[in-house]
Amino acid sequence: MAKITSVRAREVLDSRGRPTVEVDVVVDERITGRAIVPSGASTGVHEALELRDGESVRYRGRGVIKAVGHVNNELAEAVVGQDPRDQAEIDRTMIAADGTPTKSRLGANAILGVSLAVARAAALIEGLPLYRYLGSDRSMSMPVPMVNMISGGKHSENNLEMQDFLAILTGPSTYREALSQTVGLYESLRDTLIEAGVFTPGVADEGGFGPHLDRHEQALDLLMRAFEREGLRPGEDAFIALDVAATEFYEGGQYVLATEERSFFAEGMVQRLREWCEQYPIISIEDGLSEDDFDGWEALTAALGSHVQLIGDDLFTTNPKRLAMGIERGIANSVLVKVNQVGTLTETLAVVEAAQQVGYTTVISARSGETEDPFIADLAVGTGAGQIKIGSITRSERTAKYNQLLRIEEEMGDEAPFDPRTLLARFL
Ligand code: PGA
Ligand code: ZN
Repeated sequence: MAKITSVRAREVLDSRGRPTVEVDVVVDERITGRAIVPSGASTGVHEALELRDGESVRYRGRGVIKAVGHVNNELAEAVVGQDPRDQAEIDRTMIAADGTPTKSRLGANAILGVSLAVARAAALIEGLPLYRYLGSDRSMSMPVPMVNMISGGKHSENNLEMQDFLAILTGPSTYREALSQTVGLYESLRDTLIEAGVFTPGVADEGGFGPHLDRHEQALDLLMRAFEREGLRPGEDAFIALDVAATEFYEGGQYVLATEERSFFAEGMVQRLREWCEQYPIISIEDGLSEDDFDGWEALTAALGSHVQLIGDDLFTTNPKRLAMGIERGIANSVLVKVNQVGTLTETLAVVEAAQQVGYTTVISARSGETEDPFIADLAVGTGAGQIKIGSITRSERTAKYNQLLRIEEEMGDEAPFDPRTLLARFL
């Protein structure tokens, strides 16, 4: 039997230059599994709690010294002596040690760091690449990337309220080809933005462009022009996905689009999204409505759910109970999966399985504050999740994952198929 002999955490920086938790889990005093925890900006209220130091001027209160301390003391005590391959048991022990429903006492960032590092250590003990260890007896596949092109909302300094305008390319039959086509599209979008006089230097938090635009439709039009410029065929092999992140501009029962000097009730938003789906090749909409606007979500699902992927991010917060509630009410048809929204690997895997069982699609997702840790690339392949959302194709915290997927595809060959057209058939 292998045994965890020590656990050690430290404060490191994420892609926004903010502190986050890194954990080393040592097994049999010789093998170390390491993981770094990501951090969101447009967070949902139902997410597990990210513990930050607050009060102090150090890192403007964003330090994670308390969470690091919890790993080095209470959590280390709870997991030392356990076999790292007993992931479910270890996660259960940590959840019990914390004792709160939102992991608020020890911090979800502390618990997740240990949880992911344990999996890495276990894979090393087994002599398996992480994706294969996580995959166990599941059927694995290469995920289809949903790639950020234009950013607004909390991820950019521009004026747009809606957060992500993304592309899904369905022509390629390998992940590698999809990635190179996506890079081509990104270059063409830059040319298009320059030509339209709206290009701004630098990139947004997730590596996409952050132009100042008058209306949200302009982002859709620019993306359409970039498709054409790149020789892609909108509606045939090039599609648009949106992350509206509507929770962020839901105020007093209305969706407030200050950029356009307009506000909508839920039915107005549904109507607008429906019109966009008729005018543009949109096949996926994430958080089209706010996290607790269940009546609105019912209307949205009734209007578009039969032919558009409707992803719940803030709606479900990778929480098995929230997802069960959504499935029960028949809202959305897809779930965004972010490991730090729930705080353990075991609960993350449970959400993916629950979604897969009822035919909800699953999209493994990065956060806007990311790190060089490519864990989610392996997670997406191992769980056969089908789709992945990492942001854009610039910035090393993004390419850490895209590049890991290149390595995995090379290693797996036909064993992990890449088939966007079959995967997304009901939305094309
Ligand atoms: P976040 O954004 O990491 O800032 O929450 C990602 C998303 O909304 O999908
Ligand atoms: Zn989102």
